[in-house]
Amino acid sequence: MASKFLVSADHLTIRFPRTNAPDLIASRAVNLDIAAKETVALVGESGSGKTTTGRALVRLLTPSAGNVWFDGKEVTHIRGQALMRYHRNAQMIFQDPFASLNPFHTVAHHLSRPLTRLRHLKGHEREEALDEILTLVGLTPTAIYREKYPHELSGGQRQRVAIARALAGGPSFIVADEPVSMLDVSLRAEILTLLESLQERRGLSYLYITHDLASARYLAHRIAVMYGGSLVEIAPAEDLIQAPAHPYTRLLLAATPGSAHTGPLPETMQSAPDLSEDRQGCPFAPRCPAVMDRCTKTMPAMITVADGHQAACYLNE
Ligand SMILES: Nc1ncnc2c1ncn2[C@@H]1O[C@H](COP(=O)(O)OP(=O)(O)O)[C@@H](O)[C@H]1O
Ligand code: SF4
Ligand SMILES: [Mg+2]
Repeated sequence: MASKFLVSADHLTIRFPRTNAPDLIASRAVNLDIAAKETVALVGESGSGKTTTGRALVRLLTPSAGNVWFDGKEVTHIRGQALMRYHRNAQMIFQDPFASLNPFHTVAHHLSRPLTRLRHLKGHEREEALDEILTLVGLTPTAIYREKYPHELSGGQRQRVAIARALAGGPSFIVADEPVSMLDVSLRAEILTLLESLQERRGLSYLYITHDLASARYLAHRIAVMYGGSLVEIAPAEDLIQAPAHPYTRLLLAATPGSAHTGPLPETMQSAPDLSEDRQGCPFAPRCPAVMDRCTKTMPAMITVADGHQAACYLNE
């Protein structure tokens, strides 16, 4: 596939079998492209399939259907050595820096593993690389931070270690899954700024997963909105904030403090998104204030509403 994109999901579908119920489809025919050095934010409420989609893109999960492409090559089903090589290029940062670090191991141990496993470094070279990434994420003097255990670090420092670990293989693509949502509000900006500067210095592409449109607007070039396992809108960040074309995006904006679209959330925002395989029509229909008869029957396709701006809603026809 000749492509100007670094990473692409093509009809990416992830299904989880359930006993005595139709399969749960956490990611349903998702099409998403991320260019080199681009940040795409993936926003949506809890349970909409964001983490699952991110995990599939870095191949911590194998898709049930559809494809994942990286740098012109298909990586959907690669295993063994090929998957290991892919993980040099594609990494994930998780929401909870405490849970993602082993309490019994030092910072140096956490970082040595990927340097050994992914880059086959040892001895002096590995020690140098370790100091370099610690410096890159602002954990200096490195001699002190190397010997620390996770419980000796603040939440922000732990997330820096997790970011350093993701950087160890020398990736060009990182999925950052709500990387600041477990941190004190006072620390969030500095971690987002760090991610921004790393992008600049290392030429990284990000999929930035969040339920917070304000930080998506700050960090991302484009914003993709997910609901009920489906992508429902994608646009350049400012276009999406200024001229949302999907009723769900409008509701998300209404819930964002300081937004021009601020307003109360309707009562119908109570139920969780339905991910069941036998769901029909628009995923947002059960909660949509503008729902029409046809919405409950057939899933609307993505419609281009402006340059680079698409939304899956019949109201845009
Ligand atoms: N390994 C799994 N097995 C079964 N169900 C899962 C698994 N991982 C996620 N799910 C389900 O998939 C749905 C989407 O989850 P997730 O991708 O974590 O959404 P989000 O990140 O948007 O909150 C949820 O209903 C979740 O329970
Ligand atoms: S397709 Fe129908 S139910 Fe879905 S968001 Fe548009 S108007 Fe609402
Ligand atoms: Mg999640």
